[in-house]
Amino acid sequence: MCGIVGYIGEFNALMASMEGLQNLEYRGYDSAGVAFDKNNSIQIYKTKGRVRDLKLKLQETHASLSIGHTRWATHGEANDINAHPHSSRDGRFVLVHNGIIENYQRLKLMYVKEYPFISQTDTEVIVQLIEYFSKEMTVPESIRKTMSLLEGSYACLILDREHLDRIYFIKDKSPLLIGKSTLGMSFSSDITGLMDYANEYMILEDKSFGVVTAKEIELYDVIGLKLSLDFKPISIKKEDIDKHTYTHYMLKEIHEQPMMVRNLIDRYFIKDEVNISKRLLHQIRQSDKINFVACGSSMYASYYAKYYFEKLCGIPCEVFCASELVYSTPLITKRPFFIFFSQSGETADCIAVMKKCKKQGYPTLTITNTKESSMVHLSKYYLDLYAGKEIAVASTKAYTAMIVVSAILARAVHMSKTNIKNNLKAVSLAMEKVLENEEVYKGIAKEIKDSSDAFFIGRGMDYWTSLEAALKLKEIAYIHTEAFPSGELKHGPIALIHKDTPVLAIITQEGTNRITRSNLMETASRGAKTFVISTKDLASLDDDIILPNVAHYLSGLISALVVQLIAYYAALYKNNDIDKPKNLAKSVTVE
Ligand code: M6R
Repeated sequence: MCGIVGYIGEFNALMASMEGLQNLEYRGYDSAGVAFDKNNSIQIYKTKGRVRDLKLKLQETHASLSIGHTRWATHGEANDINAHPHSSRDGRFVLVHNGIIENYQRLKLMYVKEYPFISQTDTEVIVQLIEYFSKEMTVPESIRKTMSLLEGSYACLILDREHLDRIYFIKDKSPLLIGKSTLGMSFSSDITGLMDYANEYMILEDKSFGVVTAKEIELYDVIGLKLSLDFKPISIKKEDIDKHTYTHYMLKEIHEQPMMVRNLIDRYFIKDEVNISKRLLHQIRQSDKINFVACGSSMYASYYAKYYFEKLCGIPCEVFCASELVYSTPLITKRPFFIFFSQSGETADCIAVMKKCKKQGYPTLTITNTKESSMVHLSKYYLDLYAGKEIAVASTKAYTAMIVVSAILARAVHMSKTNIKNNLKAVSLAMEKVLENEEVYKGIAKEIKDSSDAFFIGRGMDYWTSLEAALKLKEIAYIHTEAFPSGELKHGPIALIHKDTPVLAIITQEGTNRITRSNLMETASRGAKTFVISTKDLASLDDDIILPNVAHYLSGLISALVVQLIAYYAALYKNNDIDKPKNLAKSVTVE
């Protein structure tokens, strides 16, 4: 959720951290802060608000090392005091932290109850403990001792005023990467925070601890054994995260979807055959049940995957909400296979389930847009979404890419002759057509933007798209929106319909066309303002949006664009901060 960065080396470390923070800001944007060296002391600047607010507080200076933080508040409201970095009582140690310390209150009472605590955060106890132990131990020992007491998740960077030639780090459960170049070392919660100052990266393992100088890295495990370094080249470039002429990343990412589909065809097909590891395909074929694990939009994409694998491959499937699965014990079959969907690859709820799977020896596949992520690192198999970096908090192209990759994978597992490649080409063209009709979506957005409640309805696939549509409208337009299987309304929710409540029906499947229309009429009879999004072959004359036809099992890829754009424009007309909606963050790295 939060993002942390650090730099030590020949470039201006303060600038390096500020640029890193700017790239990481989508992970959390309640407050921001930096610490850096100046005249043999540590300077700290922090503020409620965005990185741009922090910039206003800073004066230009050259630093040789620095650490920074962009926060998504968990413990303590978003204000200047709770913003990171935090420092120890005597000011010697300064720290930034991403994660949650679950036993922070107990640790306070046990070791540092006399210490003055300034913030309401769980983080401050870490830096106070380091100071406390450093009275009787070396600094590395006191950091390791502190680490051994922490319960929860953490990635921390630590400065020591007495040794301003190094940055210490500890990591467990929260992501942390080290970047390297001939001119210095950097840290970041994800690859985008590294790309300007490093050309190689390494993902740190859980429970690792170490220290870097401008030239060297020492890495240890929790008991102090030296670990080897394993760096890989950084492939992401600045232009990959450029907004170009779009007003928002979200709009750019919506418009990138036709290209994303073409790109996936190129990546996953050699002529007409799917090119995916035979070992992976074999292992899926051997399984007696596929368990899909994900959260939010990625979970909604999993419903399509379940459909493809059940229909094409005849393998029973179940979709699990990751945060529920961690704390439940469902019946697991003899030969289960686990597929995780995650655009970020860092979702803590998924990682918790994955670790449990690993313990049990269950095979896992991560399908993600972030190959340099913890989930890829942890899972046995990995497939890339190749959607290009997604910056807007509301997922768009990663969601549709998940559906595309699921269809391709299911087709490969089944070895079917379905002409999915041509069908996907048609999807890409249809998406382009859909994007030409923005005026229509703007019109609907204007009509619904001031509603306090809205509903999406559909059956089967159209219901799964409705779930995603409702999430989009909630996330960025702040409209309370629910999705229902259209047949469910009369079992209760229809009581919520009053004059002018917007109800949007998605109709792309022949078998459920007539019945969904009847269900929509039932809401219209009770005063609802109704809208129909249908495909050309099923359309009635007065439908509001008519989508081009594509293979019926891929139609959710087309309707998704429409609901994304309706949400986008509703948010735009409300002047909302579309790419960074309130209370949210792009990578949800706490459970
Ligand atoms: O990175 P992930 O795909 O694992 O994230 C899962 C959800 O947090 C994510 O899909 C969230 O619901 C998005 N903000 C949806 O737009």
